Amino acid sequence: MYVCITNICTRLQASYTHKTAHIQSSSLFTMHPFLVYGASIVVPFATLWLLSLLGFSLLKWYPPKEKPLPPGSMGWPYIGETFRLYTENPNSFFSNRQKRYGDIFKTYILGCPCVMISSPEAAKVVLVSQAHLFKPAYPQSKEKIIGPKAIFFHQGNYHFRLKKLIQASFLPSAIKGSISEIEQIVLNLLPSWEDCTINTLHEMKKFAFDVAMVAVFGDAREIEVEGIKKLYKCLGKGYNSMPLDIPGTPFYKAMKARKMLNETLTKLIERRRESGTHGGGLLGVFLESSSASNKAHDDHTFSDCQIADNIIGVIFAAHDTTASLLTWIIKYLHDDDDLLDAVTREQEGILGRRILQGTCSLTWDDTRNMPLTSRVIQETLRLASILSFTFREAVQDVEFEGYFIPKGWKVLPLFRSIHHRANFFPQPEKFNPSRFEMPPRPNSYMPFGNGVHSCPGSELAKLEILVVLHHLTTSFRWEIVGEEDGIQYGPFPVPKHGLPIRVIPRNKKMITNPI
Ligand code: HEM
Ligand SMILES: *[C@@H]1O[C@H](CO)[C@@H](O)[C@H](O)[C@H]1NC(C)=O
Repeated sequence: MYVCITNICTRLQASYTHKTAHIQSSSLFTMHPFLVYGASIVVPFATLWLLSLLGFSLLKWYPPKEKPLPPGSMGWPYIGETFRLYTENPNSFFSNRQKRYGDIFKTYILGCPCVMISSPEAAKVVLVSQAHLFKPAYPQSKEKIIGPKAIFFHQGNYHFRLKKLIQASFLPSAIKGSISEIEQIVLNLLPSWEDCTINTLHEMKKFAFDVAMVAVFGDAREIEVEGIKKLYKCLGKGYNSMPLDIPGTPFYKAMKARKMLNETLTKLIERRRESGTHGGGLLGVFLESSSASNKAHDDHTFSDCQIADNIIGVIFAAHDTTASLLTWIIKYLHDDDDLLDAVTREQEGILGRRILQGTCSLTWDDTRNMPLTSRVIQETLRLASILSFTFREAVQDVEFEGYFIPKGWKVLPLFRSIHHRANFFPQPEKFNPSRFEMPPRPNSYMPFGNGVHSCPGSELAKLEILVVLHHLTTSFRWEIVGEEDGIQYGPFPVPKHGLPIRVIPRNKKMITNPI
């Protein structure tokens, strides 16, 4: 039953069918602006204390059913456990709670009550077998920053149409042709690393961003890439922050950047439409499907606004993820000399064949011949689990594994916890690519998600990583600068400070050895 009480009615409020709980939840949300105000930059202690008193009485949700809510802590009022989640080491954040409460526990992040689930079976129920009960819905702040019409937040026909189009653009057959462009991006970037101290995350973001630009816009250089890159930096900084729309906050800056991205894209779409050429990349595919000649199938067309949100979303999904994963790979290879040697030998084999055959650039078949390097990627996807979880939302009251999940609560399958289970992955905290010599048990490994929302960009991500690793391992060695352990969010978890490294050229003789 949906009863909207106040003008700031959120989906969350729709959740309360029980009368007592309903009144309480609405008063919680009429307080919203007040809380927002109180939580700005420096929070006066007294305000916080007052709010916590008020909040604690309001945050008591009474499950209307006999089944209890899952165990767990909701943290501070409004803020919940958001700050803890995004400042603590994610491995301990999740494993501490799992140890204490079990595979299903509740928490409160980014303004949403959440149920986190860490068993593979339960994750499959949410993402696949009962997916209709758990719609894709991220916290409002994330949906606003990415764009409300973007693929991640939809289901049904609109999602299906978008997915078909995006997936087709990133199939192996579709990305095969871009390998030489990707290689060119690597070859332009690598020389600037030689004998320098670089910030691995920043450099990998440059790389993955340029690849994303090619994937989305084709090779036409019709946009101002540097400007867009800066805007994405703001987006990334706001991505994990509380939705405080107050000047100066990361969220405010991200929303401003988003507006400018939208303007840039809207103009570009207009220009491409006017010129009569759809242009290359995913944007070209979108424009083609929405062109006049296709208008007959109303079903296929997308509005400019929908296209802009999705282009912004795909670029976001493509570059920070890939860059974070690459940063972890650089660290894991650095930490294991024998493994780095073995990967280098594999890549030198490819290099040798290339030179023998007189082909000067990497081919698609080359990249299908890198089993060890591919296992390094698989194991990094597991151990680093840069997407610790994803967001779904209960579309109705659900009873789940003996617990009650109220309608409107977020339900978060914890990829990280599943990937760190010792019964599936013995010595889970050890980096050991050889464990992937055997395929992982079904439902125990889902770095690219599962079900209808699983990642359409997984092949592109793996391809671009293989291309970098080919050149990096055969040309360079690297030392970590300042041995500081730890993890930070940028916006996905990465080694502290983005892993500063010193890059040294390898002995050139060694590279030509295999020929
Ligand atoms: C290492 C890199 C990457 C990782 C770990 C990753 C992971 C994921 C995961 C786990 C999901 C599912 C989210 C969910 O179920 O809610 C997803 C969705 C998605 N990813 Fe990726 N991804 C990566 C790279 C990419 C790239 C390169 C692209 C661009 C081509 C991309 C585009 C997308 C899109 C558009 C979705 C939404 C699909 C949908 O909602 O149907 N990703 N990704
Ligand atoms: C993007 O810009 C267009 C045109 O100015 C506008 O109609 C649309 O609402 C904007 N989208 C978002 C999400 O702000």
